Amino acid sequence: MSGGGHLVLVGPMGAGKTRVGRAAAEALGRPFVDTDDLVEALAGREIPEIFATEGERGFRDLERRAVADACAAPEPSVVACGGGAVLDAENRRAMAGAGLVVWLTADPDVLAARVGGGEGRPLLGDDPRRSIRRLLALREPAYEAASDARIDTSGSDLHGAAEAVLAAFERNRREGSRP
Ligand code: S3P
Repeated sequence: MSGGGHLVLVGPMGAGKTRVGRAAAEALGRPFVDTDDLVEALAGREIPEIFATEGERGFRDLERRAVADACAAPEPSVVACGGGAVLDAENRRAMAGAGLVVWLTADPDVLAARVGGGEGRPLLGDDPRRSIRRLLALREPAYEAASDARIDTSGSDLHGAAEAVLAAFERNRREGSRP
């Protein structure tokens, strides 16, 4: 764990970062911030349109600004980062300085079932199941490097996953306040 007081969620598409993050933020009485929403606000366009016009490169540039802004916010928050944000070293540094970084994940089949047809997620293309597997294999080392704790949500509902995240956060807080 590092200096800041944010709770940062990373992990693949379909891991539940947004839903679990919202539930955790509510339980903690904190604001919830989703970097995908910040990207859309910065661009004034939705993510599929950003990918279509500026490519993944343009999206990642906006995402870097969004992650930096969210991590630098003075009010302790719950921050859900888009699934590919961990690939960028600058993002990983910002997250590490922001607080506890929790990696939410699940079995590839569970992730694929959750993302369904992949609407609104341009990187999933025509075969979301296959894309999920490919992206997971590529990105696992980056999730590992970016995070302080890993929580598998394959067998959990929203409530159970949020409880597990809150327990990790609480544990970390206790350990951090020990003399
Ligand atoms: C992406 C994940 C998406 C979004 C964009 C790219 C990725 O966010 O940032 O479509 O590279 O994995 P979610 O993980 O919130 O779906």
